[in-house]
Amino acid sequence: MNDEVFEKYRDAGRVAATILQDGARSIRVGASYRELVESIEARVGEEGAALAFPLNLSLNEDAAHDTASYGDERVFSRGDVAKLDLGVQIDGYIADTATTVDLGSNSLLLQASEQALESAIRSVRPGATAGGLGAAIQKEIESRGYRPISNLTGHGLDRYVLHRSPTIPNIGISGGVVLEEGMVFAIEPFASTGIGRVGEKPRREIYSLVSQRPVRTPAGRIVLEKIRERNGLPFARRWLGDKKLDIALPLLVRSQVLHVYPVLSDIPGALVSQHEHTVIVTPDGCVVTTR
Ligand code: CO
Repeated sequence: MNDEVFEKYRDAGRVAATILQDGARSIRVGASYRELVESIEARVGEEGAALAFPLNLSLNEDAAHDTASYGDERVFSRGDVAKLDLGVQIDGYIADTATTVDLGSNSLLLQASEQALESAIRSVRPGATAGGLGAAIQKEIESRGYRPISNLTGHGLDRYVLHRSPTIPNIGISGGVVLEEGMVFAIEPFASTGIGRVGEKPRREIYSLVSQRPVRTPAGRIVLEKIRERNGLPFARRWLGDKKLDIALPLLVRSQVLHVYPVLSDIPGALVSQHEHTVIVTPDGCVVTTR
């Protein structure tokens, strides 16, 4: 990786870290969910960067992929466990980072994903395996009496690419990709009081373009025009700015022009925490871009 690319990853990471921490501090019981999402997203542009994906703000048993909808009227409640997952990009170079805010009394649950992340980061070096990182994550979470979410993973990053090799599991698997100097990836342990697996909810707020095939319906064409500058990175339904375009989305998903990211949840009543950092592998360990 050349110095210019390295610096773009570092800059994206610094912007993401600052905005995520400020956003987390501003969550209060009674505050508006939508206003928080919109203010954090707006701040990314003000800092001279762009969003790599819509701010994910997922509550309680929801682990990932929730974000504000048009006129979303939710407010934060006492007892909520809120995951903020922010992706910032500069010239396509992505920083992906997440933290959890506890509005109840779940400090041990938060500590589980946080310490799992720290343990995995300490394990990163050329020659280590992705499976070894997963084992470190699983150990920290299970030793506190929780379950790691086994079907969510960390992921490699590349220019305008949010998911590529290596996959970083949240459980110990044998082997996996051998880490090499210069690899860029996000590590994102989830700790749960539930079954440790997520399934899809009907709620669908986040999409991405996955095919260039022609679209014939007028609403579908307008959607594609509006998301053209995303370069394939995910967008929120809310960003289209016109509820009438919603009608195009299921059709574009069915014809495999768009990919949809449904809200992913553990069982009802479960609580899930998440912590995430982006790292670049160096000769003797790694640099964490998002601290
Ligand atoms: Co991620």
